[in-house]
Amino acid sequence: MSQLEVTGLNKTFGEGENLVHALSNIHLSVNKGEFLAIMGSSGSGKTTLLNCISTIDTPDSGNIIFEDFDIVQAKESQLADYRAKNISYIFQAYNLVETLTVYENIILPLQIQGKSIKQYQQKIDDIMEKLAIQNLKNKFPNQLSGGQRQRVATARALIDDSKLLIADEPTGALDSANSENLMSLLQEINASFGITILLVTHDPAAAKYSSRMVLLSDGQIIDDIDRNGLSNELYLEEIYRRTR
Ligand SMILES: Nc1ncnc2c1ncn2[C@@H]1O[C@H](COP(=O)(O)OP(=O)(O)OP(=O)(O)O)[C@@H](O)[C@H]1O
Ligand SMILES: [Mg+2]
Repeated sequence: MSQLEVTGLNKTFGEGENLVHALSNIHLSVNKGEFLAIMGSSGSGKTTLLNCISTIDTPDSGNIIFEDFDIVQAKESQLADYRAKNISYIFQAYNLVETLTVYENIILPLQIQGKSIKQYQQKIDDIMEKLAIQNLKNKFPNQLSGGQRQRVATARALIDDSKLLIADEPTGALDSANSENLMSLLQEINASFGITILLVTHDPAAAKYSSRMVLLSDGQIIDDIDRNGLSNELYLEEIYRRTR
C-alpha cells in the first residue's frame, strides 16, 4: 500500500489575466521507502507540489493522504502535529543556527520536541559517523565549508524519526563534487534508514541517485520512470533521454 497518495490535485495562483495553473490534476502514489526525484523545467510546479505535501501551500482541490491522514481536510492544529511527526527538510540555504555548535544544531529537533538525548545517542553517533562529521562536533557553522554545512544540515534532518525527507534543490548551491557527495549520501540514507525521500531537482546528475523519477511540465506529470535495477549510470542515460 502506498504511504502517500495524491489524487486530482489542483493549485492556481493569481486571478484573471495573471491566473497560473501551477498544478493541474496531479495523481501520484508514493510507497514507503521510495526515493522520488521530481524533475521539470523552471515554473513547472515542482516546489508547489512539495509545498502542498508539506502543507506550506493549500491546494484548490484534490486530496493528499499520508498514512491515512487527510492533509487537505485537516485542521491547523492537526497539521502542526503532522509536520512535526513526519516531515524533515533539507533546505538549500542550510539554516544552521550560527550560535550553536555542530552537535547542538544536530540535536536541536530532539530538544524542541522534548525528546531524551540519551535515548537517541546511538542514532546521533551513527548519523554523525555516516556523514563523517564527528570531528566537527564542537565547531560553529561559520568554521565550516559549504559541503560540511550541508552534511550537518542533513544530519539534523535525519535525527528525529521523520518518515518523509523533503529536499528542494539541495544541491543548488554546491559544486559538482559536493553535489555528488550529498546525493550518494541521500541514496545511502534512503537504503539504510528506509526513509521516504522527495527530492526536487532539475539536474539529471542528482536525479540518478533516486529510485524513481517523475517529470512535471506545466503543472502536469508527463512521465514517471522507475530505476528498475539499473546502475546509476544507465539510469542517468534514461533520465537524460526522458527529460530532453
Ligand atoms: N506564491 C506564488 N504566487 C504566484 N505565482 C506563483 C507562486 N508560487 C508559484 N507560482 C507560479 O506557479 C508556477 C509553478 O511554480 P513553482 O515554484 O512550483 O515552479 P518550480 O517547478 O519549482 O520552478 P523552479 O525550478 O524555478 O523552482 C510558476 O508559474 C510560478 O510563477
Ligand atoms: Mg522550485
